[in-house]
Amino acid sequence: MGLVEMPKLTSYGGLIFGCWDSGAGSLDDYLGDYRWYLDIMLSRLIGGMTFIRGQQRYKIGANWKIAAENFAGDTYHLGYSHASVFKLGVNVLNPVSYQAAPSMYSVVFPGGHGMTSLAIDNERYDYDLRAAQGMGAEVVEYVREARARLDRECSPVQSRIYALGFGNIFPNVSVNDFSALRPIGFYVWHPRGPSELEVWQWCAVDAGAPDSLIQMIRDDFARNQAAAGTVAPDDGENFEQVTEATRGVVGRRQAFNYQMGMGDIEEIRLEGVPGKLAPYYSELGQRNFYTQWATLLNSED
Ligand SMILES: [Fe+2]
Repeated sequence: MGLVEMPKLTSYGGLIFGCWDSGAGSLDDYLGDYRWYLDIMLSRLIGGMTFIRGQQRYKIGANWKIAAENFAGDTYHLGYSHASVFKLGVNVLNPVSYQAAPSMYSVVFPGGHGMTSLAIDNERYDYDLRAAQGMGAEVVEYVREARARLDRECSPVQSRIYALGFGNIFPNVSVNDFSALRPIGFYVWHPRGPSELEVWQWCAVDAGAPDSLIQMIRDDFARNQAAAGTVAPDDGENFEQVTEATRGVVGRRQAFNYQMGMGDIEEIRLEGVPGKLAPYYSELGQRNFYTQWATLLNSED
């Protein structure tokens, strides 16, 4: 019997990342400036991150990269793929839409990581404070305390961002964090073949949130971006159909088109905001993801 090799483990904000390459660089270096954003999510949590018990696993007949690129920058599917959810009037995961915050951005980092729905001017905090008014004094207090923590521990611009949006840590870990009143979702896209994807996902919450809020967050997660929820089946259907379309005789001859937002409107730089930014409607995130993928595939290593 041979020795069992153990992965190199790195703890970050209650999360544990494992890497099987003992010669790999540090997690900090790997995340780069994405860490500046993830720090916002983690610093906001009063009691630290805790996970709702239970992990969901389900299979989709799709290539894993379609899911990863979706989280890395696909904003334009929301109003179409999830239109029926918005009409229901239920708690949607992202309560601050582009219509409510037209200065939203997409942002990418070296290494293929990308994030979008970034609002930098208090939009997400302002929404939470308004919504909390209808949820009782305890929740209002909670939102104020979450913001106060950011004011103490982060830069002013990080504090104004308050919650992130959705994104993908290259290659296959996606995160959504839209509000202190909503679930934090973690998704791992496991390839099970060129056309099969196994999703592993977890719902995280602030251990210091009021119990009534944790219960609501738990329910919202199961009802939204989950196997039997309203949102994930919409996405899964898209992922399957995109994959299926590549199998046809004509489909195999075509290249995907990721030109959205190319040109001089790309390359937005904002003072004190790391990363390369682009307008909300852009495929910068997808281009960044596939550029890294192609770089790795073409590398001699
Ligand atoms: Fe979606």
